[in-house]
Amino acid sequence: MSNDFTSVLVENRVFKPSPEFSKKARISSMAQYKKLYAESIKTPDKFWAREASELTWQTKWKKVLDWKAPFAKWFVGGKINVSENCVDRHLLTHRKNKAAIIWEGEPGEQRTLTYQQLHTEVCRFANVLKAHGVKSKDRVLIYMPMVPEAAIAMLACARIGAVHNVVFGGFSSTSIKDRLDDSQAKVVITADGGYRRGSVVPLKKNVDEALKDTPDVKCVLVLKRTGQETEMKEGRDFWWGDEVKKVKTTCPAKAFDSEHPLFLLYTSGSTGKPKGILHTSGGYLTGTYCTSKYVFDLRDDDIYWCTADVGWITGHSYIVYGPLANGATIVMYEGAPNFPEPDRFWDIIERLKVTILYTAPTAIRAFIKWGDEWVKKHDLSSLRLLGSVGEPINPEAWMWYHKMIGGGRCPIVDTFWQTETGAIMISPLPGATPCKPGTATLPFFGIDAAILDEDGKEVKANEGGKLVVRKPWPSMLRNIYGDTERYKSAYWGTYKGIYLAGDGARRDKDGNFWIVGRLDDVLNVSGHRLGTAEVESALVSHPAVAEAAVVGRPDEIKGQAVVAFVTLKEGQTASPELTKALKNHVGSAIGAIAKPDDIRYAAALPKTRSGKIMRRLLKEICSGGKIKGDTTTLEDLNVVAALSAGTKDDD
Ligand code: WTA
Repeated sequence: MSNDFTSVLVENRVFKPSPEFSKKARISSMAQYKKLYAESIKTPDKFWAREASELTWQTKWKKVLDWKAPFAKWFVGGKINVSENCVDRHLLTHRKNKAAIIWEGEPGEQRTLTYQQLHTEVCRFANVLKAHGVKSKDRVLIYMPMVPEAAIAMLACARIGAVHNVVFGGFSSTSIKDRLDDSQAKVVITADGGYRRGSVVPLKKNVDEALKDTPDVKCVLVLKRTGQETEMKEGRDFWWGDEVKKVKTTCPAKAFDSEHPLFLLYTSGSTGKPKGILHTSGGYLTGTYCTSKYVFDLRDDDIYWCTADVGWITGHSYIVYGPLANGATIVMYEGAPNFPEPDRFWDIIERLKVTILYTAPTAIRAFIKWGDEWVKKHDLSSLRLLGSVGEPINPEAWMWYHKMIGGGRCPIVDTFWQTETGAIMISPLPGATPCKPGTATLPFFGIDAAILDEDGKEVKANEGGKLVVRKPWPSMLRNIYGDTERYKSAYWGTYKGIYLAGDGARRDKDGNFWIVGRLDDVLNVSGHRLGTAEVESALVSHPAVAEAAVVGRPDEIKGQAVVAFVTLKEGQTASPELTKALKNHVGSAIGAIAKPDDIRYAAALPKTRSGKIMRRLLKEICSGGKIKGDTTTLEDLNVVAALSAGTKDDD
């Protein structure tokens, strides 16, 4: 790639992969990409069948796709075990004694699990689950730190056909409870605690709190990680370490239907209740396997590190399922990027000789802020490929990533996708696609992405519209757990038979997709989706609050910061103490990532005549701008005038 980016105009910065990189890559030219893409769109069944046949199927499918919009069945009649594909099948190859997981704890301990060892641990834990009565299709909630056992627990569920629901370890007990209630899980897998920025996160304590009102949970399996004192409820709570000693080290990988549910993962939508996104087996694995192979161009000698948490979809698809199905060596790190110093990532890369780094723009912006000197202390020459995910990467962060981390030599794959899509949808292919900072570039094979206007017509180059996918793809969500109507209306209700991503986008004249932001009331804080409605309902549950409206404002590091407009109940007065209390209240209701950065008190909120809060106006107010656009549906214009006038005093 060109090192000489300072001399070119900002708009024209294009970075082509180096001939050396391209030569070794699976897809090594744009001509090859275009040909295969055209084929994959013309005959998607053929493309996906070829990819799926690289996996191990216990019974081959009869039909590739059964599509009755918006319901898809992929690899109909096929039988597969996802855990067998991620573990067992490598034992028959040279990968048997290859490192599957290289793990580092925040305090510094290290562990490596070969595929053989991973197999033993997955089998043992699958047997533990069976011994505790977990059966096919039972839901199991996983609330773990970033330790190998998180992946082991997921693979053990998959092995016996149980449906895992991983809850991010940074979420609070209320979030655990909500997910338990919605998914009706009977078993919880957790740890005594985990390490984060030098302190212990009391995971088991949060679980206990959530279980106070959830008597249906009959069993809690607890990994000893930190060793702090932990209450164990007789007959309900069991130590992971004790239980695995009681069972065999082998467990058959039973065949499950291709459409057998694999996991639920909750994500924010525009209404209060998070959606339980349902993914199934054969299609999801095909999608994650195939995208990992082409987008990261994984090779046997790679040391691949995705820095996401397993609690997010990125952790599911690109720490666990995709890379392990490819027989890759993955790095897993438990803690914060700035512990004990802001160079922890660079230190890990140098020591472990990481070749592929997949991280988020919010992390990149934090590294920029912490200063180049932390990076310069380390030799990062092992890196050959970089990735970005979670939100649009701003061109300056892209340039820094390219130059400072990639040494100007590593292609950057800016991957656009969602919890719902299961796998990467739009991304450069590193040996082929010319990259422009800020764009996820072109659709992946088989992905018929487009941008439509209100009438469903494709927009012209550089015109904005709604990002959609016009053909089903194997790793697509199958439903929202327990809410088929919401599934239909949220994703398929706008254009018939066409998937609505919920993002606004435009394509440039070369066909590159530029994502310009969410269309719904979803914030993207540090790459994590937060529904404004979720934060609002947390605020309103505080006794002092009458009404709340939450919006995002641009933030240098986090992408978006959370701003809450709050009206108080009669007799309550605003104070710095109340502000602090409200922030903490949201923190304990959802998790620290949802804490509002600013709270502004108002006598009233701007509403439409039908009573809907006009967040657009609030957004304009807190971005410091004047109120623009249409206010004809506004109920009481004085409210906006008062809010705008009050902005300065409240800051
Ligand atoms: C945003 C994360 C621009 C987008 C895998 C999407 C991105 C939402 C990118 C999904 C990217 C993710 N460029 N925007 N490369 N990647 N997004 O479900 O708004 O946590 O709809 O999945 O993140 O977030 P989710």
